[in-house]
Amino acid sequence: MKNGILLFIGVFSAVALSWAILILTGFQTYGNLRPYVDDITGDAFPTPMTGLAERGRAVYAELGCVSCHTQQVRRPGFGVDHQRGWGDRQSVARDYIGQHQVYIGDIRIGPDLRNVGERDVPEFDWATWHHLHLYNPRMLVPGSLMPSFPYLYEKRKIVGQPSSRALPLNVGDGYEVVPTERAEALLAYLRNQRLDYSLPEAEDLTVEAWERRHEQEPE
Ligand code: HEC
Repeated sequence: MKNGILLFIGVFSAVALSWAILILTGFQTYGNLRPYVDDITGDAFPTPMTGLAERGRAVYAELGCVSCHTQQVRRPGFGVDHQRGWGDRQSVARDYIGQHQVYIGDIRIGPDLRNVGERDVPEFDWATWHHLHLYNPRMLVPGSLMPSFPYLYEKRKIVGQPSSRALPLNVGDGYEVVPTERAEALLAYLRNQRLDYSLPEAEDLTVEAWERRHEQEPE
């Protein structure tokens, strides 16, 4: 072929250029995102995760929670996420900075967890409810499809005083169930999933803004 080299250069440049545009524009848009600093309080959002929550993220990955749960709240008016109580605003790219791996997920067999740390739970305090739920979801949510994770807990003989970390479960005289370190780490990670701060780019993506717009629209 006479123009083989020319053809090669042409194809190579086309591929290289589209690759560069795809990757570099993504990097340009998201790679430079910095935490938002509140002018008045000086606080930066999103706040970084603690070391324990970072370890919890590994447990989340290991146990496959991402195969049933997403971490991405859709905007009000676009799906029913806020009616389900999954969050009062859409999550935006900046909400995820600082997490070196994000388990956004793509299948919603269970509820979205991006704001789970902020959601109220019935009957128990937040941590107790979630420990009991992980230990056996059907104890709190009859008919739940979520698997139990009893191996995140240790059933042990009470020696001396019962542990203050023991779950409120009746597992036989002289025995108690306490969370392992992995369970505590997983809970710290879930607790960290909160959309309780505002970001300038998310101001139009709140339930409030959506309701305001709705009122203005003619019937
Ligand atoms: C086979 C799918 C499946 C897997 C795997 C799974 N879940 Fe779930 N999860 C569900 C379903 C369905 C529900 C809703 C019923 C319920 O609350 O038990 C749920 C509910 C929850 C809730 C309660 C959320 C709320 O606001 O009501 C939390 C928290 C949760 N899951 C965390 C986890 C974690 C952490 C893991 C991994 C250790 C996990 N799930 C693995 C299906 C799953």
